[in-house]
Amino acid sequence: MPLAVICREVGPPERLALEDVPRRPLGPGELRIRHRAAGVNFPDILMCAGGYQHKPPLPFTPGFEAAGEVIEAAPDVTQFKVGDPAMVHFRTGGYAEESVVPLAGAMPMPAGLDFAEAATFVTANVTAYGALVQRGQLKPGEVLLVLGAAGGVGLAAVEMGKLLGATVIAAASSPQKRAVAKSRGADHVIAAEADDLRPQLRDILGERGVDMVYDPVGGDLFEPALRALAWDGRYLIVGFASGTIPSFRANLALLKGARVMGVRAGEMVRRDPSLYEPRVKQLYGWAAQGHLKPHIGHRFPLAEFRAAMETVSGRRALGRVVITMND
Ligand SMILES: NC(=O)c1ccc[n+]([C@@H]2O[C@H](COP(=O)([O-])OP(=O)(O)OC[C@H]3O[C@@H](n4cnc5c(N)ncnc54)[C@H](OP(=O)(O)O)[C@@H]3O)[C@@H](O)[C@H]2O)c1
Repeated sequence: MPLAVICREVGPPERLALEDVPRRPLGPGELRIRHRAAGVNFPDILMCAGGYQHKPPLPFTPGFEAAGEVIEAAPDVTQFKVGDPAMVHFRTGGYAEESVVPLAGAMPMPAGLDFAEAATFVTANVTAYGALVQRGQLKPGEVLLVLGAAGGVGLAAVEMGKLLGATVIAAASSPQKRAVAKSRGADHVIAAEADDLRPQLRDILGERGVDMVYDPVGGDLFEPALRALAWDGRYLIVGFASGTIPSFRANLALLKGARVMGVRAGEMVRRDPSLYEPRVKQLYGWAAQGHLKPHIGHRFPLAEFRAAMETVSGRRALGRVVITMND
């Protein structure tokens, strides 16, 4: 029987266990995928702790994304055959040796990506694209400030901001993290320190503000980043990895003529399916040209899934964390 990480009660990663899970027969339109790698995302940890907006029924297997090979396809599936590489995307199910997915949850692997890169491609890049392009409408020549810039969704925004022709300023908490952001194209890197954010930005931009802030962190960085906006700037609220949801004085938005926008990349497509196709087309195109390639900073075998999760929750991740299986 294949192994899977199981969350039977909400709580920290110590409460999760690796268990044998019986295979079930495929239904119409389904595929069985043998995973080779699964991406670890911050929301996995929130979901297991009961703190994420989507609360799946217990028990469940965490993990938004994985990549591997098709080992079985329902008779009515013609788009994939046994042996094809595939990346899979779902709300739960990644931290496992296998998954069963509907056809809509499987995608061919973009050319040029290995299993670890494909297993970390979708969530971060879909989030960055949904935020920068479909919500924020970033334009060439604009200045983009990315917070949490060496994290999963942050680093994707650094790479994508450059592809979209922006000047990218990356904020991260350590020299190693800033080096990763720089290696992925950031024009400038600054320390993620709330008290020093605006002086560092002034050193780079003078009195000019930033046109867009991409914020997956929240907490103390929110207010200085909001104050750093230029007239008509956009502030993209992507997440709260700091653990603190900030409050703000609404006059700050009024004074800047600013738009403060929430981003839920998955929900955007669920509510407006027409957003899906242009997203996927553009992301595959960039990947095929070698422009989007997740930076894999840490690899853990499935048995060490707790260490993988704690690397993310402990703020130690440099780029992406992957769990590998079936090697
Ligand atoms: N809106 C959406 O559609 C969407 C989609 C996916 C994820 N998210 C959200 O985006 C956020 C980031 O996710 P991610 O997968 O990019 O996480 P990640 O890889 O762990 O990156 C988060 C970054 O936040 C910073 N941070 C500040 N305080 C932290 C703390 N106490 N613990 C951990 N990190 C801290 C860290 O950067 P520094 O150390 O450099 O400050 C870290 O690199 C999460 O809140 C997640 O739920 C939103």
